[in-house]
Amino acid sequence: MKSANLENGQLLTEVNHKAATAPSDNVLHHYWHAVARSQDVTDKPLAVKLLDHPVVLWRSDTGVVAFHDLCVHRGTPLSLGWTENGNIVCAYHGWRYGADGMCKHIPSIPAERGIPAKARAIVYHSAEKYGLIWVCLKDPVADIPAFPQEIHDPSYRWEAYSSHGRWKANAARMIENLLDFSHFTWVHPGILGDPSNAACESSEITAVPGGFQYEIEQPVNRLKANSASIQRFTVILPLTLFIERRQPDGPEKQTNIYCCTPMSDKETRFFRLSGRNYRDALSDEELNKKHQTIFEQDRVIVEAQRPEELPLDLAEELHLRGPDTAGLEYRRALRELGVKWG
Ligand code: FES
Ligand SMILES: [Fe+2]
Repeated sequence: MKSANLENGQLLTEVNHKAATAPSDNVLHHYWHAVARSQDVTDKPLAVKLLDHPVVLWRSDTGVVAFHDLCVHRGTPLSLGWTENGNIVCAYHGWRYGADGMCKHIPSIPAERGIPAKARAIVYHSAEKYGLIWVCLKDPVADIPAFPQEIHDPSYRWEAYSSHGRWKANAARMIENLLDFSHFTWVHPGILGDPSNAACESSEITAVPGGFQYEIEQPVNRLKANSASIQRFTVILPLTLFIERRQPDGPEKQTNIYCCTPMSDKETRFFRLSGRNYRDALSDEELNKKHQTIFEQDRVIVEAQRPEELPLDLAEELHLRGPDTAGLEYRRALRELGVKWG
């Protein structure tokens, strides 16, 4: 009986599939998340983590593929393997999987034995867009966020200013930090905020497809001397933010796109695409250094916030109308979406 089970692959694959089953359902499983830069997915499989799921990214003949990073045979991460002729090969016993997840070849048995039906990988939705690889763990309920059209504007330079990295913080805490303008004065004095001008005016929040938007006038970080810039914040739920900074009296514009991807509830992989259509007085190197300084100042605060997960019960924490209106709207919208941590 035991050998019969092994022969048709039932017993072993049953057990291993259970081990590969996703953790409890979560609405974030139904949204697209950026998990890697296109250039980082080569002919070598790449391991990433999304919402506590180990995921392997690899390139088949038809494009980028995302699998649960586990071989059904003996639980080996497929990311330890390699790609060959449009398939991914497991490093342990050489099982070969196609882009559809089906195992196509088991080297240790004669071909006439056939392949057990359950010898397959769990396939996630994957796509390549805007120079990023996107994964959705379950059936998507929304499209990949549409980036501002500047991403295609040849007068913008993007490569010089974009960055990516990892914070030991909740992804929504990170987005809320980025959309919170009342901290500029205190966390980034002299760079993004003017300590003699800490009062924040209320900004009107308007709905946009998939999220909301508001504008502020920023006193310090001017594109031109002696004139304030306008910043427009656009939140695309659940975890994408665009910050477009423009000169009220000139053509200079800068656009920052933030995709904050939850590796887990407490760890975030972020991708920041930053472009501008003008030459700054500072060199590219100086500008990137300034950005790193700002990001480090934020990281120290956000990684230390408790609870780690952004509270979505509006009765938690204390909110100020005006300075915290955008944060409050963000929390309310995530709660309405059904986001839950843990
Ligand atoms: S563990 Fe993958 S082929 Fe054996
Ligand atoms: Fe900040």
